[in-house]
Amino acid sequence: MLETLFRPQLLHAVLVHFPVALAILGVPVVYLCALYASNSRVLVRLAAVIYAVLTLFALLAMFSGTAARRAVPATVDAEVWELIHRHEWMGSHVWMFAAVTTVLLVLSFIQLNWFRVLVIALAMATSLATAIWVAMTGHYGGILVYEHGVGTPYVRVADEAPAEPDPPDVEPIPEEAIDEPEEPAEEPDPDEPELVPVESIDSEAAAEVQFESDVWPILEQHCLTCHGDTRPSSGFRVTSVEAIIEGGDKAAPGVIPGEPDDSPLVQYIRGELQPQMPWGEDPLDPDEVHVIRQWIAAGAEDGEGDIEELVDESEETDEDAPTDERES
Ligand code: HEC
Repeated sequence: MLETLFRPQLLHAVLVHFPVALAILGVPVVYLCALYASNSRVLVRLAAVIYAVLTLFALLAMFSGTAARRAVPATVDAEVWELIHRHEWMGSHVWMFAAVTTVLLVLSFIQLNWFRVLVIALAMATSLATAIWVAMTGHYGGILVYEHGVGTPYVRVADEAPAEPDPPDVEPIPEEAIDEPEEPAEEPDPDEPELVPVESIDSEAAAEVQFESDVWPILEQHCLTCHGDTRPSSGFRVTSVEAIIEGGDKAAPGVIPGEPDDSPLVQYIRGELQPQMPWGEDPLDPDEVHVIRQWIAAGAEDGEGDIEELVDESEETDEDAPTDERES
Protein backbone atom coordinates (compact mmCIF):
# COMPACT_ATOMS: atom_id res chain seq x y z
CA MET A 1 0.00 0.00 0.00
CA LEU A 2 2.67 2.44 1.07
CA GLU A 3 4.74 1.22 -1.82
CA THR A 4 2.06 2.33 -4.31
CA LEU A 5 2.02 5.77 -2.77
CA PHE A 6 5.74 6.04 -3.34
CA ARG A 7 5.53 5.16 -6.99
CA PRO A 8 6.83 8.51 -8.27
CA GLN A 9 4.02 9.07 -10.73
CA LEU A 10 1.31 8.42 -8.15
CA LEU A 11 3.00 10.60 -5.59
CA HIS A 12 3.15 13.40 -8.16
CA ALA A 13 -0.52 12.86 -9.06
CA VAL A 14 -1.48 13.21 -5.40
CA LEU A 15 0.76 16.19 -4.68
CA VAL A 16 -0.29 18.32 -7.65
CA HIS A 17 -3.81 18.67 -6.28
CA PHE A 18 -2.61 20.90 -3.45
CA PRO A 19 -1.13 23.70 -5.57
CA VAL A 20 -4.17 23.58 -7.84
CA ALA A 21 -6.62 23.88 -4.94
CA LEU A 22 -4.58 26.58 -3.16
CA ALA A 23 -4.06 28.64 -6.32
CA ILE A 24 -7.82 28.68 -6.90
CA LEU A 25 -8.66 29.41 -3.27
CA GLY A 26 -6.04 32.14 -3.08
CA VAL A 27 -7.57 34.43 -5.70
CA PRO A 28 -10.86 35.30 -3.87
CA VAL A 29 -9.01 35.65 -0.58
CA VAL A 30 -6.58 38.18 -2.05
CA TYR A 31 -9.45 40.07 -3.68
CA LEU A 32 -11.27 40.20 -0.35
CA CYS A 33 -8.06 41.58 1.17
CA ALA A 34 -8.24 44.41 -1.32
CA LEU A 35 -11.71 45.25 -0.10
CA TYR A 36 -11.16 44.80 3.62
CA ALA A 37 -7.39 45.05 4.17
CA SER A 38 -7.65 48.29 6.09
CA ASN A 39 -9.80 46.71 8.78
CA SER A 40 -8.99 43.01 8.54
CA ARG A 41 -5.40 41.96 9.10
CA VAL A 42 -6.65 38.41 9.56
CA LEU A 43 -7.60 38.12 5.90
CA VAL A 44 -4.19 39.29 4.73
CA ARG A 45 -2.51 36.89 7.12
CA LEU A 46 -4.66 34.05 5.78
CA ALA A 47 -3.77 34.99 2.21
CA ALA A 48 -0.05 35.11 3.02
CA VAL A 49 -0.24 31.66 4.63
CA ILE A 50 -2.10 30.24 1.64
CA TYR A 51 0.59 31.49 -0.75
CA ALA A 52 3.46 30.38 1.47
CA VAL A 53 1.97 26.87 1.63
CA LEU A 54 1.32 27.00 -2.11
CA THR A 55 4.98 27.84 -2.70
CA LEU A 56 5.98 24.83 -0.63
CA PHE A 57 3.62 22.44 -2.41
CA ALA A 58 4.62 23.81 -5.81
CA LEU A 59 8.23 22.90 -4.98
CA LEU A 60 7.21 19.43 -3.77
CA ALA A 61 5.13 18.89 -6.92
CA MET A 62 8.09 20.01 -9.02
CA PHE A 63 10.49 17.53 -7.39
CA SER A 64 7.99 14.68 -7.51
CA GLY A 65 7.36 15.60 -11.16
CA THR A 66 11.05 15.24 -11.99
CA ALA A 67 11.04 11.80 -10.38
CA ALA A 68 7.85 10.90 -12.25
CA ARG A 69 9.37 11.96 -15.56
CA ARG A 70 12.34 9.66 -14.96
CA ALA A 71 9.89 6.75 -14.66
CA VAL A 72 8.40 7.46 -18.11
CA PRO A 73 9.57 4.81 -20.59
CA ALA A 74 12.09 6.30 -23.04
CA THR A 75 10.07 4.84 -25.89
CA VAL A 76 7.00 7.11 -25.71
CA ASP A 77 6.25 9.21 -28.79
CA ALA A 78 8.36 12.31 -29.44
CA GLU A 79 5.11 14.29 -29.35
CA VAL A 80 4.50 13.07 -25.80
CA TRP A 81 8.03 14.05 -24.75
CA GLU A 82 7.37 17.53 -26.08
CA LEU A 83 4.31 17.76 -23.86
CA ILE A 84 6.19 16.37 -20.89
CA HIS A 85 8.92 18.98 -21.34
CA ARG A 86 6.39 21.80 -21.66
CA HIS A 87 4.46 20.61 -18.60
CA GLU A 88 7.68 20.28 -16.64
CA TRP A 89 8.94 23.71 -17.65
CA MET A 90 5.67 25.35 -16.63
CA GLY A 91 5.49 23.34 -13.42
CA SER A 92 8.99 24.43 -12.45
CA HIS A 93 7.85 28.07 -12.42
CA VAL A 94 4.71 27.78 -10.28
CA TRP A 95 6.58 28.26 -7.01
CA MET A 96 8.03 31.56 -8.26
CA PHE A 97 4.59 33.01 -8.94
CA ALA A 98 3.42 31.87 -5.51
CA ALA A 99 6.56 33.16 -3.78
CA VAL A 100 6.21 36.62 -5.33
CA THR A 101 2.58 36.77 -4.20
CA THR A 102 3.60 35.72 -0.68
CA VAL A 103 6.23 38.44 -0.50
CA LEU A 104 3.77 41.10 -1.71
CA LEU A 105 1.21 40.05 0.91
CA VAL A 106 3.82 40.13 3.67
CA LEU A 107 4.93 43.59 2.53
CA SER A 108 1.36 44.83 2.87
CA PHE A 109 1.80 44.69 6.63
CA ILE A 110 4.00 47.76 6.40
CA GLN A 111 1.97 50.62 7.88
CA LEU A 112 2.01 52.94 4.94
CA ASN A 113 -1.27 53.50 3.19
CA TRP A 114 -0.21 54.17 -0.36
CA PHE A 115 2.33 51.35 -0.22
CA ARG A 116 -0.23 48.88 1.04
CA VAL A 117 -2.63 49.78 -1.74
CA LEU A 118 0.18 49.27 -4.24
CA VAL A 119 1.36 45.85 -3.03
CA ILE A 120 -2.18 44.53 -2.61
CA ALA A 121 -2.94 45.63 -6.17
CA LEU A 122 0.16 43.82 -7.34
CA ALA A 123 -0.78 40.76 -5.32
CA MET A 124 -4.19 40.75 -7.00
CA ALA A 125 -2.43 40.57 -10.34
CA THR A 126 0.09 37.90 -9.32
CA SER A 127 -2.50 35.73 -7.59
CA LEU A 128 -4.54 35.71 -10.77
CA ALA A 129 -1.43 34.98 -12.83
CA THR A 130 -0.55 32.13 -10.44
CA ALA A 131 -3.99 30.59 -10.88
CA ILE A 132 -3.84 30.87 -14.67
CA TRP A 133 -0.31 29.44 -14.78
CA VAL A 134 -1.30 26.54 -12.53
CA ALA A 135 -4.39 25.88 -14.64
CA MET A 136 -2.33 25.73 -17.84
CA THR A 137 0.29 23.51 -16.24
CA GLY A 138 -2.48 21.23 -15.01
CA HIS A 139 -4.06 21.24 -18.45
CA TYR A 140 -0.88 19.87 -20.04
CA GLY A 141 -0.52 17.38 -17.21
CA GLY A 142 -4.10 16.28 -17.77
CA ILE A 143 -3.52 15.72 -21.48
CA LEU A 144 -0.47 13.62 -20.63
CA VAL A 145 -2.38 11.42 -18.22
CA TYR A 146 -5.78 11.16 -19.85
CA GLU A 147 -4.89 11.26 -23.54
CA HIS A 148 -1.49 9.63 -23.56
CA GLY A 149 -1.73 7.52 -20.44
CA VAL A 150 1.58 8.81 -19.09
CA GLY A 151 1.97 7.63 -15.52
CA THR A 152 -0.51 4.79 -16.06
CA PRO A 153 0.13 1.25 -17.25
CA TYR A 154 -1.50 2.24 -20.56
CA VAL A 155 1.16 4.69 -21.68
CA ARG A 156 1.34 4.77 -25.49
CA VAL A 157 4.78 4.05 -26.82
CA ALA A 158 6.25 4.86 -30.23
CA ASP A 159 5.06 2.36 -32.81
CA GLU A 160 8.54 1.49 -33.83
CA ALA A 161 10.06 1.01 -30.43
CA PRO A 162 13.62 -0.24 -30.72
CA ALA A 163 13.67 -4.02 -30.84
CA GLU A 164 14.94 -5.89 -27.82
CA PRO A 165 18.67 -6.39 -28.26
CA ASP A 166 19.49 -9.89 -29.43
CA PRO A 167 21.10 -11.95 -26.71
CA PRO A 168 24.79 -12.27 -27.34
CA ASP A 169 25.95 -15.56 -28.81
CA VAL A 170 26.52 -17.92 -25.94
CA GLU A 171 28.84 -20.90 -26.36
CA PRO A 172 26.72 -24.04 -26.47
CA ILE A 173 27.13 -25.86 -23.20
CA PRO A 174 28.54 -29.40 -23.65
CA GLU A 175 26.08 -32.14 -22.66
CA GLU A 176 28.06 -33.45 -19.73
CA ALA A 177 28.29 -30.04 -18.14
CA ILE A 178 24.51 -29.82 -17.91
CA ASP A 179 24.31 -32.64 -15.37
CA GLU A 180 25.36 -30.47 -12.50
CA PRO A 181 24.65 -26.89 -13.30
CA GLU A 182 26.75 -24.98 -10.81
CA GLU A 183 26.14 -21.52 -12.10
CA PRO A 184 23.26 -20.43 -14.25
CA ALA A 185 24.25 -19.51 -17.81
CA GLU A 186 25.10 -15.84 -18.05
CA GLU A 187 21.99 -13.75 -18.59
CA PRO A 188 22.23 -11.00 -21.19
CA ASP A 189 22.55 -7.82 -19.19
CA PRO A 190 19.68 -5.54 -20.17
CA ASP A 191 21.73 -2.52 -19.10
CA GLU A 192 24.33 -3.30 -21.70
CA PRO A 193 22.65 -3.18 -25.09
CA GLU A 194 24.49 -4.38 -28.16
CA LEU A 195 26.41 -1.55 -29.78
CA VAL A 196 26.44 -0.89 -33.49
CA PRO A 197 29.79 -2.41 -34.55
CA VAL A 198 32.57 -0.18 -35.87
CA GLU A 199 35.22 -0.68 -38.52
CA SER A 200 38.72 0.65 -38.24
CA ILE A 201 39.27 3.96 -39.96
CA ASP A 202 41.72 4.43 -42.81
CA SER A 203 42.82 8.04 -42.80
CA GLU A 204 43.10 8.27 -46.58
CA ALA A 205 39.60 6.95 -47.14
CA ALA A 206 38.34 9.17 -44.32
CA ALA A 207 39.73 12.28 -45.99
CA GLU A 208 37.51 11.54 -48.99
CA VAL A 209 34.29 11.76 -46.96
CA GLN A 210 32.41 15.00 -47.55
CA PHE A 211 29.85 16.45 -45.18
CA GLU A 212 27.38 17.59 -47.79
CA SER A 213 27.37 14.55 -50.06
CA ASP A 214 28.05 11.74 -47.56
CA VAL A 215 27.09 12.74 -44.02
CA TRP A 216 24.21 15.14 -44.53
CA PRO A 217 21.95 12.63 -46.38
CA ILE A 218 22.16 10.29 -43.38
CA LEU A 219 21.32 13.03 -40.89
CA GLU A 220 18.60 14.38 -43.13
CA GLN A 221 16.91 11.00 -43.42
CA HIS A 222 17.24 9.87 -39.81
CA CYS A 223 17.61 12.89 -37.55
CA LEU A 224 16.14 16.02 -39.11
CA THR A 225 12.53 15.40 -38.01
CA CYS A 226 13.51 15.83 -34.37
CA HIS A 227 16.74 17.82 -34.58
CA GLY A 228 15.80 20.54 -37.07
CA ASP A 229 15.92 24.26 -36.45
CA THR A 230 12.42 24.51 -34.99
CA ARG A 231 12.16 23.15 -31.45
CA PRO A 232 14.99 20.63 -31.72
CA SER A 233 14.81 17.71 -29.25
CA SER A 234 17.18 18.23 -26.35
CA GLY A 235 18.44 21.45 -27.95
CA PHE A 236 20.48 19.50 -30.49
CA ARG A 237 20.40 20.60 -34.15
CA VAL A 238 21.92 18.77 -37.09
CA THR A 239 21.31 21.63 -39.51
CA SER A 240 24.89 22.89 -39.63
CA VAL A 241 28.32 21.52 -38.86
CA GLU A 242 28.70 24.30 -36.32
CA ALA A 243 25.53 23.26 -34.48
CA ILE A 244 26.50 19.58 -34.57
CA ILE A 245 29.86 20.35 -32.99
CA GLU A 246 28.25 22.64 -30.45
CA GLY A 247 25.99 19.82 -29.19
CA GLY A 248 22.78 19.84 -27.18
CA ASP A 249 21.56 20.29 -23.64
CA LYS A 250 23.09 17.10 -22.31
CA ALA A 251 26.15 16.45 -24.40
CA ALA A 252 28.25 19.39 -25.45
CA PRO A 253 30.24 19.43 -27.60
CA GLY A 254 28.24 17.02 -29.76
CA VAL A 255 31.26 16.12 -31.86
CA ILE A 256 34.97 16.29 -31.08
CA PRO A 257 36.78 16.70 -34.41
CA GLY A 258 39.38 13.96 -34.81
CA GLU A 259 37.91 11.84 -31.99
CA PRO A 260 35.00 9.88 -33.44
CA ASP A 261 34.64 7.44 -30.57
CA ASP A 262 34.72 10.13 -27.90
CA SER A 263 32.06 12.14 -29.73
CA PRO A 264 28.64 11.95 -28.03
CA LEU A 265 26.90 11.88 -31.42
CA VAL A 266 28.67 8.61 -32.26
CA GLN A 267 28.02 7.27 -28.78
CA TYR A 268 24.29 8.02 -29.19
CA ILE A 269 23.96 6.36 -32.59
CA ARG A 270 25.96 3.31 -31.47
CA GLY A 271 23.90 2.93 -28.30
CA GLU A 272 26.76 3.62 -25.91
CA LEU A 273 24.76 6.58 -24.64
CA GLN A 274 21.04 6.05 -24.09
CA PRO A 275 18.43 6.57 -25.44
CA GLN A 276 19.93 5.33 -28.67
CA MET A 277 19.47 7.57 -31.72
CA PRO A 278 17.56 7.76 -34.00
CA TRP A 279 15.10 7.70 -31.19
CA GLY A 280 12.40 5.03 -31.34
CA GLU A 281 13.64 3.78 -34.71
CA ASP A 282 16.01 1.06 -35.87
CA PRO A 283 19.67 1.87 -35.26
CA LEU A 284 21.70 3.16 -38.19
CA ASP A 285 23.51 0.67 -40.42
CA PRO A 286 27.13 0.04 -39.47
CA ASP A 287 28.02 1.54 -42.88
CA GLU A 288 26.28 4.79 -42.03
CA VAL A 289 27.94 4.92 -38.62
CA HIS A 290 31.26 4.32 -40.36
CA VAL A 291 30.75 7.27 -42.72
CA ILE A 292 30.00 9.56 -39.78
CA ARG A 293 33.01 8.29 -37.83
CA GLN A 294 35.27 8.78 -40.86
CA TRP A 295 34.04 12.33 -41.28
CA ILE A 296 34.74 13.12 -37.62
CA ALA A 297 38.13 11.37 -37.73
CA ALA A 298 39.12 13.55 -40.69
CA GLY A 299 38.36 16.68 -38.65
CA ALA A 300 34.58 17.15 -39.03
CA GLU A 301 35.08 19.71 -41.79
CA ASP A 302 32.26 21.74 -43.22
CA GLY A 303 33.58 21.40 -46.76
CA GLU A 304 32.40 23.67 -49.53
CA GLY A 305 28.80 22.72 -49.07
CA ASP A 306 26.03 24.95 -47.91
CA ILE A 307 23.23 22.84 -46.50
CA GLU A 308 21.01 25.79 -45.63
CA GLU A 309 18.99 25.43 -48.83
CA LEU A 310 18.61 21.71 -48.42
CA VAL A 311 17.37 22.18 -44.85
CA ASP A 312 14.81 24.79 -45.84
CA GLU A 313 13.28 22.54 -48.45
CA SER A 314 13.06 19.42 -46.37
CA GLU A 315 11.96 21.15 -43.21
CA GLU A 316 8.93 22.60 -44.84
CA THR A 317 7.58 19.19 -45.62
CA ASP A 318 8.66 17.66 -42.31
CA GLU A 319 7.40 20.33 -40.03
CA ASP A 320 3.69 19.76 -40.44
CA ALA A 321 3.79 16.05 -40.11
CA PRO A 322 6.72 14.98 -38.02
CA THR A 323 4.69 12.36 -36.18
CA ASP A 324 2.31 11.17 -38.88
CA GLU A 325 4.98 9.06 -40.37
CA ARG A 326 5.44 7.12 -37.18
CA GLU A 327 1.77 6.76 -36.57
CA SER A 328 0.86 5.22 -39.87
C1 HEC B 1 11.99 10.74 -33.05
C2 HEC B 1 12.79 11.85 -32.63
C3 HEC B 1 14.31 11.74 -32.74
C4 HEC B 1 15.06 11.32 -33.82
C5 HEC B 1 14.57 10.82 -35.17
C6 HEC B 1 16.44 11.49 -33.42
N1 HEC B 1 16.51 11.99 -32.15
FE1 HEC B 1 18.18 12.48 -31.14
N2 HEC B 1 17.09 12.97 -29.52
C7 HEC B 1 15.70 12.87 -29.42
C8 HEC B 1 15.30 13.10 -28.06
C9 HEC B 1 13.87 13.08 -27.53
C10 HEC B 1 16.48 13.35 -27.32
C11 HEC B 1 16.62 13.59 -25.84
C12 HEC B 1 16.72 12.21 -25.23
C13 HEC B 1 16.93 12.21 -23.74
O1 HEC B 1 18.05 12.38 -23.34
O2 HEC B 1 15.95 12.02 -23.02
C14 HEC B 1 17.58 13.28 -28.28
C15 HEC B 1 18.90 13.50 -27.95
C16 HEC B 1 19.95 13.44 -28.85
C17 HEC B 1 21.30 13.80 -28.55
C18 HEC B 1 21.80 14.37 -27.25
C19 HEC B 1 21.65 15.85 -27.33
C20 HEC B 1 22.02 16.55 -26.05
O3 HEC B 1 23.17 16.97 -25.93
O4 HEC B 1 21.15 16.69 -25.18
C21 HEC B 1 22.04 13.58 -29.69
C22 HEC B 1 23.53 13.82 -29.87
C23 HEC B 1 21.14 13.09 -30.68
N3 HEC B 1 19.85 13.02 -30.15
C24 HEC B 1 21.51 12.73 -31.95
C25 HEC B 1 20.65 12.21 -32.90
C26 HEC B 1 21.07 11.75 -34.19
C27 HEC B 1 22.49 11.79 -34.70
C28 HEC B 1 19.96 11.30 -34.82
C29 HEC B 1 19.88 10.68 -36.19
C30 HEC B 1 20.73 9.56 -36.45
C31 HEC B 1 18.83 11.50 -33.93
N4 HEC B 1 19.29 12.04 -32.77
C32 HEC B 1 17.51 11.20 -34.24
C33 HEC B 1 14.84 12.61 -30.46
C34 HEC B 1 15.22 12.15 -31.69
